[in-house]
Amino acid sequence: MGTVSDRPTLHPVAEANGKIILVGEHAVVHGYPALAAAVEQRVRLSAEPSAARSTPIELRIPDWDVDLSLDPGDPHPIARASLEVLAASDGPVLGWSIRGTSDLPPRAGLGSSAALTVAMARLVLGPHAPVRSIVDVSLSGEAVFHGSPSGIDSQIAARGGVLRYIRGEEPTALRIVTPLRLVVAPTHIARSTADQVAKVQRKREQFPRCADATLRALADLVDPTETALLRHDTFGLGEIFTMAHHLLSALDVSHPRLDELCQLACNEGATGAKLTGAGGGGSLIAVVPDASAEDQVLHALRSTGAPAFATDIRGPAPT
Ligand code: MEV
Repeated sequence: MGTVSDRPTLHPVAEANGKIILVGEHAVVHGYPALAAAVEQRVRLSAEPSAARSTPIELRIPDWDVDLSLDPGDPHPIARASLEVLAASDGPVLGWSIRGTSDLPPRAGLGSSAALTVAMARLVLGPHAPVRSIVDVSLSGEAVFHGSPSGIDSQIAARGGVLRYIRGEEPTALRIVTPLRLVVAPTHIARSTADQVAKVQRKREQFPRCADATLRALADLVDPTETALLRHDTFGLGEIFTMAHHLLSALDVSHPRLDELCQLACNEGATGAKLTGAGGGGSLIAVVPDASAEDQVLHALRSTGAPAFATDIRGPAPT
């Protein structure tokens, strides 16, 4: 963005939501369709010029224990990704202070890095920038975190709502009339998305027919998931979630803690549960048919130390 003095500037505020993958994670990396939904939890950034115009940009997000000076030599992935985003959008690299707040847990498979890079792209490009530009800029930062992501996280962070997405194509928004209540439980088990994606790639090399059949089976759940969502069929959706979780486990991207918490959620009244995102830790999502099941599932998950919360997913996309 140019100014009178031609010094790049930032908009004062920007935000972006986190996400869950309803079905099709990992399969989406290999060209199959997937469904993603925005969650209410998000990242909010505000920017103001620093007193010293020639100092590196400061980025503070206390909720994520982030306190960085965006110095090109800083190896911190958030610093590197932020600088990529600023470079890709012709934003400033000096003389600003960016402060963030977030109710989205970081590194939990809930799209925190895409939310951050989309919010940062919006700080530079502004609220009326074309969504494709926002996604492209976000992806240059996402590459720092995840290597070669499918792009689904940036798409849903930039567009909101519920999306059907195939890698490299324009996503389609689902018109969901009745919001769907889901319970989300972060495990706080650290893992890397790139490692999880590499694990699936190894399975494809070791057992090509079996691994590809499993990825195709995950993709085959996309249409039934759409139908269940449009009908608000919480029982059908729960069954699909549980089946998707087992298929993902067959690809070895689950974790004993995820399996345990999915089982617990189902025992306490969820109609089904699955890991969401790259797996190996991260978070699970569970379908709850009513408010009393929601309370019971939340209570049971929290009593094991998982900071579970409930969220509504809704369409059409708010932007
Ligand atoms: C996305 O949140 C998780 C994966 O599908 C990776 C990707 O799509 O880039 C595993």
